[in-house]
Amino acid sequence: MTTGDSEQIYAAVRDRYASAARATTSIACCGQAGTPTGVVSRALYEKDETDALPSDAVAASLGCGNPTMLADLQPGEVVLDLGSGGGIDVLLSARRVGPTGMAYGLDMTPEMLDLARKNQAEAGLTNVEFLQGTIEDIPLGDGTVDVVISNCVVNLSPDKDAVLREAFRVLKPGGRLAIADIALRRTLSEPTRELVGLWTACAAGALVVEEYEAKLRSAGFESVSIEPTRMFEDDDIVGLAAELSVGEDLPENIDREALMTELSGSVMSAFVRGQKPQ
Ligand SMILES: C[S@@+](CC[C@H](N)C(=O)[O-])C[C@H]1O[C@@H](n2cnc3c(N)ncnc32)[C@H](O)[C@@H]1O
Repeated sequence: MTTGDSEQIYAAVRDRYASAARATTSIACCGQAGTPTGVVSRALYEKDETDALPSDAVAASLGCGNPTMLADLQPGEVVLDLGSGGGIDVLLSARRVGPTGMAYGLDMTPEMLDLARKNQAEAGLTNVEFLQGTIEDIPLGDGTVDVVISNCVVNLSPDKDAVLREAFRVLKPGGRLAIADIALRRTLSEPTRELVGLWTACAAGALVVEEYEAKLRSAGFESVSIEPTRMFEDDDIVGLAAELSVGEDLPENIDREALMTELSGSVMSAFVRGQKPQ
């Protein structure tokens, strides 16, 4: 399979996250679900944030940052989380915006939506709605959202331009984009980018920082910034590869050592910001 085929990327991503939702101990993107202690997903949230959430919402956390902290959410705001997974950031957002606000989660994987809705019921939050759909075609109206957040999902999309265009469309004038994502310091080689396992693991589909900034601007965003929060090097990459089983089924043209060297120092977690003009 090559990553040039969008339908196959969607299917591979959906499969990976469906199994992550079914068994939170399975290997999944951006770390190891079950306990948020994987190389990428560990220690993203403060204890007082996670203590107030259902344990399954915390266990299903597969992000690479804490976008709710980045977004400076205010009471009464409407928030949309792109690729909401088990719902951790939607539930945190719902608490931050309070009963006069609203938090939407959007995800394409039915198993993740089931898990998120179960977590919502357990949290007892009513200002939350989980929507099924793709982040490339957001099922909300124009200018309806104050803040778009996302946690380690945009890199998974085969059509980042569509995602950013849609995020811009649903934002109100002056609305903010505040997302955590994986970004790259340099372009990965073509054979590496074609590793579907590495794509669903949030690395192969990631954008190089300058390309990401250019796409944000061409979608219409201003005040664009990409702030690295964590660089993955040496032991991180080896640990990440082990968690993600990268290397078990590598094609013959990929040397595992060379792949680790290529990834080390190339892959980072980052905060990505932008604003829709007033
Ligand atoms: C790495 S997980 C992150 C989940 C969540 N944001 C978190 O921090 O725990 C990626 C999630 O995005 C969803 N996803 C990936 N690509 C998507 C797309 N194109 N449209 C909608 N959902 C998508 C997957 O189903 C999965 O639940």
